[in-house]
Amino acid sequence: MKGRLRNVKITEEAKNFSLISKEKIKDIRIEGDKIYFEEKIFDDLVVEICSGTGDFLTQYAFFNPETLCLGIDYAENAIFRAVKKAYQKQLDNCKFCCNDANAAIDLLKLDCATLVYINFPDPWPKRRHEKRRLVTDKFLYKIYNILKKSGKCIIITDNEWYKDFIDYQLRDIKLYRPYYSQGWFITDNQTFCEQFPFYESGYFKKAISAGATVRFYVLDTQK
Ligand SMILES: C[S@@+](CC[C@H](N)C(=O)[O-])C[C@H]1O[C@@H](n2cnc3c(N)ncnc32)[C@H](O)[C@@H]1O
Repeated sequence: MKGRLRNVKITEEAKNFSLISKEKIKDIRIEGDKIYFEEKIFDDLVVEICSGTGDFLTQYAFFNPETLCLGIDYAENAIFRAVKKAYQKQLDNCKFCCNDANAAIDLLKLDCATLVYINFPDPWPKRRHEKRRLVTDKFLYKIYNILKKSGKCIIITDNEWYKDFIDYQLRDIKLYRPYYSQGWFITDNQTFCEQFPFYESGYFKKAISAGATVRFYVLDTQK
């Protein structure tokens, strides 16, 4: 999505309301089982990596007001659209950070997130773009560090090439175990939605209307 959305106009007020800098991520604290941020106390922290234009996360925040929702995406125009949505709905539990996920994730405290979603990450199948692929075993280890005991990392994709790539990354992974008895993922979205909050994004709708099979990977921590 980098560079594809242009000229998003956004007010300073909207930015102040829900855009946070990379440095500000360090201020998200966990004490006991509560999350503290900007003088507010939340029950949980949920992170969406590759949050795009915020369709998923703003709905998550709306339906889960006691959860602090943090979206990370490096595409500024996508982030601005997400920020506008959060501002228009006055979701003070929904924050977006415009940054590379690899750098931003390192700034979160250890064992602080209940769920980390990676929804429809860009697959970058070409060899010359290999370094841009996000869902590597190394990145999944980083996510493990920020997940609470019994936290989960959820990856959702319909891309056939990326499904194989993700399976390959998971082949020897030790820190997680599959949440589902049948393996790392399921393809039945109804079953997934009964177990985890899920809200449709443009990418999800596009995949469904194209008749694609969406995989819902759920990685359970072994802490
Ligand atoms: C296919 S879009 C999906 C957006 C959203 N999750 C959805 O379902 O609508 C992928 C998003 O991942 C973001 N992205 C890709 N690599 C990233 C990285 N390393 N760090 C942060 N964002 C990244 C892109 O900017 C883009 O917004």
